[in-house]
Amino acid sequence: MNTCGEMKSLLKFHIITSMVNVLLYVCLLLTLPLGVFPLRTLPSDPCDPANEPDPRNLRPDQITVLINGYSESRIPLLQTIAATYSASALVSSVLVLWGNPSTSSQTLAHLAHNLSLSSFGPATISLVRQPSSSLNDRFLPRSSIGTQAVLICDDDVEVDPKSFDFAFRIWRSNPDNLIGFFVRSHDLDLSARKWIYTVHPDKYSIVLTKFMILKSQYLFEYSCKGGSNMSEMRKIVDQMQNCEDILMNFVVADHANKGPILVGAERVRDWGDARNDDNDDGKLRLKDEEGKSVRAVGLSSRRAEHRRRRGECIREFHKLLGRMPLRYSYGKVLNSVGEQGLCMKGGKLVFCDQYQ
Ligand SMILES: *[C@@H]1O[C@H](CO)[C@@H](O)[C@H](O)[C@H]1NC(C)=O
Ligand SMILES: *[C@@H]1O[C@H](CO)[C@@H](O)[C@H](O)[C@H]1NC(C)=O
Repeated sequence: MNTCGEMKSLLKFHIITSMVNVLLYVCLLLTLPLGVFPLRTLPSDPCDPANEPDPRNLRPDQITVLINGYSESRIPLLQTIAATYSASALVSSVLVLWGNPSTSSQTLAHLAHNLSLSSFGPATISLVRQPSSSLNDRFLPRSSIGTQAVLICDDDVEVDPKSFDFAFRIWRSNPDNLIGFFVRSHDLDLSARKWIYTVHPDKYSIVLTKFMILKSQYLFEYSCKGGSNMSEMRKIVDQMQNCEDILMNFVVADHANKGPILVGAERVRDWGDARNDDNDDGKLRLKDEEGKSVRAVGLSSRRAEHRRRRGECIREFHKLLGRMPLRYSYGKVLNSVGEQGLCMKGGKLVFCDQYQ
């Protein structure tokens, strides 16, 4: 009996100590992740009304640059472009939005490191992997945007700093408009009685995301507002895997009731974009670095298909919105003060600002 009682109390002791151990383990397991990763939080909803920026709290005198990165083969060019923007006193920060979901984390980690080293001046360059492959993510509002203006641009378009400064100045006096260097147009095909996507020599209504300056508030409008009509239109972008730029033009024109503004650039290098075959106009397309006009080329079947799909987007957006907000603009704003002449240097013609 005695030994049995002892056994019982020993057993009790063991049970209690092991229970205490189990409890300790449970407590450790519960507290460990919190203690080790104190910064790991769930991404907050970008459309939380509390996240809607108050323009009065955003800087009017600087701009946030959002570069769409996609192609690994263009990383060296992307780095040059990001570094050039970061060197501008007008730039508050540069965000590279990586939209290619098949890029390895290792490559992205290297790229992030390289980008952080290539920033000159106070503007930092950071790399963000997009949360999904949706093209709508290009326009997600971000809490790190502290400026009233954003520049949306591609990883294959190099713009000279003077033209960038000029475009930002034009935006500051026209903050409701879309500002850009590359434009296209919608039109009504009277014989087919439908909206189409095209290029006109003398008018335009769509700015391409190759280079687009707009109010950062429009990112919120695009991603979070407009109710079910907008969410249906964003679904079209996902179905077509195209036309997010056209939809942004719809959003802005609908708000501003104004067409976009085409700005003339001195030197723009467009390295082309294999993902979208929109390098086909030759009329409103600006001159390349050598100052040569881009050849007017006939519509290849691929380009025709590209235009057809973009036309389909315009028709879908028009149907879903119940109106056509796109407005035509005419002419191009030129920086006459900075207009470059050609100077002779070593027997060759160069831009005079390279003549030193
Ligand atoms: C990063 O920079 C190094 C050294 O310049 C280069 O070899 C490498 O390819 C770069 N990687 C990425 C992903 O940018
Ligand atoms: C939504 O679309 C319908 C037509 O599809 C239109 O009548 C309505 O005005 C639109 N609502 C908004 C808020 O634009």
